[in-house]
Formats: sequence, structure tokens, C-alpha cells
Amino acid sequence: MPNLSRDALWGFLCGLVIATLFVALFTPYLVWERLALGKKCTSKERVAILIPYRDREEHLKTFLQHMHPFLKRQQVDYSIYVIEQQGEPKFCRGLLFNIGFSEVMKTETYDCFIFHDVDLIPEDDRIKYSCSSSPRHLSVAVDKFGYRMFSYSHYGHLIHVCGGVTAFSTSHFKLVNGFSNLFRGWGGEDDDMFLRLKARGLDYSRQDLNIARYRSLPHEQAEKNETNYLLLKNSQTRYLQDGLNSLETVDYRVKSTTRLPLYTHITVWIDAK
Ligand SMILES: *[C@@H]1O[C@H](CO)[C@@H](O)[C@H](O)[C@H]1NC(C)=O
Repeated sequence: MPNLSRDALWGFLCGLVIATLFVALFTPYLVWERLALGKKCTSKERVAILIPYRDREEHLKTFLQHMHPFLKRQQVDYSIYVIEQQGEPKFCRGLLFNIGFSEVMKTETYDCFIFHDVDLIPEDDRIKYSCSSSPRHLSVAVDKFGYRMFSYSHYGHLIHVCGGVTAFSTSHFKLVNGFSNLFRGWGGEDDDMFLRLKARGLDYSRQDLNIARYRSLPHEQAEKNETNYLLLKNSQTRYLQDGLNSLETVDYRVKSTTRLPLYTHITVWIDAK
């Protein structure tokens, strides 16, 4: 009988020692894991998606219907901003991006900006809506252009056409002084951006042609404004004083900023010259 109780006592003590060891070893591990997890959550990249916009209600509806589930599947921490132009009849895509960027940065902080046409819908979930170590061209292969890449030679530069959808870290966008404010109507501002990057020793990286596929929503194609292409002659010196740092010389006014459930709507009035 006394033997039995001694065994029981030993058993109990052994159990106690094992349990203590278990707690002593596992507590630091659990704490470490929580900390690591917490850090991962707070350091998640914040992404702003900027849409230059005018008079494309159907496209915007389709875009939002597609993009919210798409971005949620990728678990992106994102917000969508629609920058709507009023006043000036010719569309100012680059200027709208600069105004959007500067307005958004007044009250928020983002690590990554995606400059996105409203009529382009990504077809593949592997197209990453995030920023990397260099600016990135996302809409490499568009259906209406036969899913092909284009380049052309202009004023002695080989220009890769990088329109549609591009991703810039906030610091890279500032480094090239944003887009030019000077382009009016369709064409050229994206080629100007390509040359800005070159001048800064940066380049667009591109996702694989077979992945980076986009569907374009149908609309009447505006005629290219050939005058814009004359501006490309001095893109690589002009960028230093034409862009984010010269916005205050542009005649525009932000009329309203409205937070809606699916996006933030910024309306901008631009003086018609
Ligand atoms: C073409 O671009 C020039 C300058 O870039 C601008 O002055 C002109 O109004 C534009 N015309 C059209 C039709 O977009």
C-alpha cells in the first residue's frame, strides 16, 4: 500500500515536471508567433488604385463589379479612387493621375499606386496588384491589340508602349515627378512616362505575356493627338519641372471628394485653355 502511494507521488511529480517544461518551452514560441503575425499584418502594403474618368458610367459599373472580387481574392489592402474631369473638353489622363495622387496623399498614406484605365479588365488572377522593386507595366497583352507588345522608335528612342495599367511604388512615382501635366487628348503621356523612367535609370518590368492579359470594354476609339508626340522630344529633361512639382501652376480646382461604398469619387474642374 505505501509502495503504491509512493509510485503515485512519483507519477504526479514527473507529470508536473513535464507540464512545467512544456509551458516553459511553448510560451515563448506562442508569443513569438503572435508578434511575427502581428508584424506581418501591419506591414501589409497599402495600394491605391487611381482611375481617370469622364462619362463612362457603364464601364465603371463593370470595372467595379469585376475588380472588388478580383482584389479580394488576391487579399490586397486597397482603395479605389475615381478622378473625374470637368471643364476642359480634351481628356487630361496624366494630369488627372497627378491630381489624384496629390489629393490622396494629403490625407492618406499608400505604399503603392496603380494607374488604371477604366476600360481594362484583368483576365488572370496571377496579375499581381502590388508594387515591386521597379515600376511595372501590368496590361502587357490586351485583347483588342491581339495580346501583343508594341514598341516604336521616336526621336532616336526605342519606346515600349506601356499604356493602360501601371504600378508604381509611391517613392518611384515621386522620383520621376509623376506624369507630365501637358498632354491633352489621347496618346503620348504613357510614352512620356516611359522616357522619364529611362532618364531616372529605371525601367518598367513586365509580367509574362501569357499571364498579363486584359479584356478591353468596347468604346469608340478617339483619334490620336499627334501634337502630343512632339512633346516626347524633350521628355528626358522636361520631367524635372513638369509634373507633381508644377501642379500649382496648372489651373484646376478640386470640386468634391465623396467617399462611396465602392470607391472614393474626386471631381476636378480643369480650366479650358
Ligand atoms: C493636342 O495636344 C495639344 C498639346 O499637347 C493641345 O494643345 C491640343 O488642344 C490637343 N488637341 C486635341 C484635339 O486633343
